[in-house]
Amino acid sequence: MDAPRIRPPRDPAAPLAGAIIVVGVAGGIAAYKACELVRLLTKAGAQVHVCMTRRAQKFVGPMTFQALTGHPVFTELFSLTEEATIGHIQLADRADLMIIAPATANAIARLAAGMSDDAVTTVALACTAPLLIAPSMNVNMWAHPLTRANVTRLTEVAGARVVGPDAGFLACRWTGPGRLAEPADIVEAAARILAPQDLAGKRVLVTAGPTHEAIDPARYLGNRSTGKMGYALAAAAARRGAEVVLVSGPVALEPPLGVEVIAVEDARAMRAAIDARVLAQDLIVMAAAVADFRPVAPSDRKLKRTEIGYTPTIALDSNPDILGEIGQARKARGAARPVLVGFAAETHDVVDYARAKLASKAVDMIVANDVTEAGAGFGTDTNRVVLVEPGGDTAIPAGTKAAVAHRILDRAVALL
Ligand code: PMT
Repeated sequence: MDAPRIRPPRDPAAPLAGAIIVVGVAGGIAAYKACELVRLLTKAGAQVHVCMTRRAQKFVGPMTFQALTGHPVFTELFSLTEEATIGHIQLADRADLMIIAPATANAIARLAAGMSDDAVTTVALACTAPLLIAPSMNVNMWAHPLTRANVTRLTEVAGARVVGPDAGFLACRWTGPGRLAEPADIVEAAARILAPQDLAGKRVLVTAGPTHEAIDPARYLGNRSTGKMGYALAAAAARRGAEVVLVSGPVALEPPLGVEVIAVEDARAMRAAIDARVLAQDLIVMAAAVADFRPVAPSDRKLKRTEIGYTPTIALDSNPDILGEIGQARKARGAARPVLVGFAAETHDVVDYARAKLASKAVDMIVANDVTEAGAGFGTDTNRVVLVEPGGDTAIPAGTKAAVAHRILDRAVALL
């Protein structure tokens, strides 16, 4: 017998890289979406092996999966050729994770009954790696008490994790829950299973995006933040097991999977949302670009050009320094929690200004962000930052905002 595989610690920024993932495809119309799932898993660096039920092959051919994965597809229990290349027990033994997508009502029922009468249930029963199921079926089949009981049995007895189903218009013409989760969400659910859970049990609040300070119902003062950095931080914290609240200014981004999003418009609403939660948090990371000023007297009617003249003046008032208030209040309490991480968006003397903010806001870390640098700052998918702490500075190499978010959280985990 082979020695058990030693599983190296995984980088939370790329937890699927090098992982061996078995994807079991059951016979439902959503089987075609498993192709995209397999492509995304492969793109994320995983070594993917596919097994299929006979019914699944009515919807998609094994050749497609073989081409996508570069590995033979396991379809028959008693195939001499398939067992000669890689036996199903060997496949089950080597897996870091098994995903069943789509998991039909029938496949879920047979798994819950401990049956192993096709390629998918056989590998699943022999597999000791975590199991992730992505159900897909008709609304009423999903709501049926027997399906509910089977899913509960899989989660409670076998420790399976479930992603989806999503609600929407289904192939059976019904509308409601039953649609296979989006392949990208299944990949993220898989990443969360394999990533280190070093923020498990921790509450993390992240702020993101700009604030819009009203001039009148049609106009506002704002800035160039798109929320990408803050959303990446929220997704990264959720991947590492945290319970995440994201207080977000107006942005055009999808909420990260499993993150509670509180949408706010202006700085005072952002402060109210944070104040109501601050004491419950273990960590607060403020990536939002909060406007420092707001119009003193926003109009409740759209201002007419004829009313405001050709060289209008807008009187401004100062907004609260939310992070500074939280930091100073924590200092006054003599408390170490929540750990506070701020950002500093600067155009010159970046690290010097960040260090000044570290002291004036009484926080644990400032992420210094030169917003004039190409590929960094506002709106980009990448960033390059320096972590400024009382004990010294750490330059984080340029990378995607997701990768940079994980490097920021590595330090925050150490501070926790
Ligand atoms: O959203 P993206 O397009 O991805 O862009 C990312 C980003 C450039 C916005 C982000 O990386 C960043 O640098 N965010 C901080 C922007 C900012 O407002 O910096 P600041 O130096 O003005 O503020 C310092 C800190 O105090 C920040 O943590 C800020 O959230 C906070 N602050 C600022 C003003 C204010 N009135 N209240 C605050 O709490």
